[in-house]
Amino acid sequence: MTTAADYSEKIPNNVCLNEDRRLQRALESWQPNFLHWWESMGPTLPTRDVYLRTAVNVGRDGWARFGHVPMRDYRWGIFLAERAPGRLIGFGEHKGEPAWAKVPGEYRADLRRLIVVQGDTEPASVEQQRNLGATAPSLYDLRNLFQVNVEEGRHLWAMVYLLHAHFGRDGRDEADELLRRSSGSLESPRILGAFNEETPDWLSFFMFTYFTDRDGKYQLGTLKESAFDPLSRTCEFMLKEEAHHMMVGTTGIDRVVERCARVMVENDTDDVTGHGAIGLPVIQKYLNFHYSVSLDLFGGETSTNVANYYTAGLKGRWMEDRRRDDHKLASDAIMVDALTGEGEIGHTEVAALTGLNTDLRREYIADCQSGVNRWNKILADAGLPQRLKLPHIAFNRKVGAFAGIEASPDGERLSPQEWERGSSAWLPTDVDKTYVRSLMRPVYERGKIAAWIAPPRHGINGQPFDYDYVHLS
Ligand SMILES: [Fe+2]
Ligand SMILES: [Fe+2]
Repeated sequence: MTTAADYSEKIPNNVCLNEDRRLQRALESWQPNFLHWWESMGPTLPTRDVYLRTAVNVGRDGWARFGHVPMRDYRWGIFLAERAPGRLIGFGEHKGEPAWAKVPGEYRADLRRLIVVQGDTEPASVEQQRNLGATAPSLYDLRNLFQVNVEEGRHLWAMVYLLHAHFGRDGRDEADELLRRSSGSLESPRILGAFNEETPDWLSFFMFTYFTDRDGKYQLGTLKESAFDPLSRTCEFMLKEEAHHMMVGTTGIDRVVERCARVMVENDTDDVTGHGAIGLPVIQKYLNFHYSVSLDLFGGETSTNVANYYTAGLKGRWMEDRRRDDHKLASDAIMVDALTGEGEIGHTEVAALTGLNTDLRREYIADCQSGVNRWNKILADAGLPQRLKLPHIAFNRKVGAFAGIEASPDGERLSPQEWERGSSAWLPTDVDKTYVRSLMRPVYERGKIAAWIAPPRHGINGQPFDYDYVHLS
């Protein structure tokens, strides 16, 4: 198998699609449905072309090429990372056996479910972000939005390929359903809660790409460990693209904080509202919201389903091969977050296998903290005493051990009345959202940028900030 994509094909791919006519025809008949979905649910801003990267190869160097392309003509393709010859299963009861090229019958339903849940998030985020093109703070940001959008579209292709290639009729039905559900729909919403929230402004977009896309990174990281080799190789390549989405979120929030700090210092004030910037209290509230809904995406603190997935070899841990244990965990224990017998926020010990969601969530939390540290360094460098922080794990949770209680960002348990009184100081209010929205005016002139955000330090692919990243139509 070669790693380079065949772009003479209708569907660019490195999986030798032309050797399997049935599969090729099935995917070619799904393709117009995808394009119809993209036209009706994708970005609403009309553009002539956008400076986009397109994956062309999965190898170490030169895996993508950049150029101005009309978005409609973007070549969404199917790419699997190179096969590691002789790859062995790294964990669970099949540890040490050869990885599976085909889906074992007994795991078919579980694997299909895992792929569908992952697949469902990809088009969902495109739908959530579809109107943001109307209010981009610069052409650079507009281009990054569209890059994220086309790649989430490609991630949908990645999951649909697996469904078509390995799950027969049910897989094809599921692939159709992925285009039928839609974000925020009452009749057929997306599967996971955070993917039905709206992304109405660019601060939300940066928070989403920082916190929610980062959940995706961790989910892909666990699926990359899978004994089912095609899933593992797909996720490995998706992670490569995902790095850019993380960069958009991290540096996006950097730039909002930087601008805010600058206005605070220049005007010697904590209240930047009159100066067209977004203040730290509002940034903190948006952070609180996006972080807490993203924590929910990891599921309950304990889960027997996830224990079974692990034992079966379907879904591993983050960086499985760096863990120094037996990779079976049958007799290990873990402390997980829990309500204690007295109803206090605390911990309890459970079998390591049932606590795997907690293990993954902790990896994620540590990663989130690194962003907060970065933003606090920007504040410190500006000579400001204020700091941002991650709220407590029990804050604003709708899933898991703390779903039934209220807690402050400091982790203090609250009565419903106390929550009612406090929540407007912790989560974005209508007033906050309206203010943020009032700043969202498009800036489409080359080299110009909106007043609420600092320009980026670097352009894309070595191009300057004032490059013509997008041609509007
Ligand atoms: Fe994705
Ligand atoms: Fe992403």
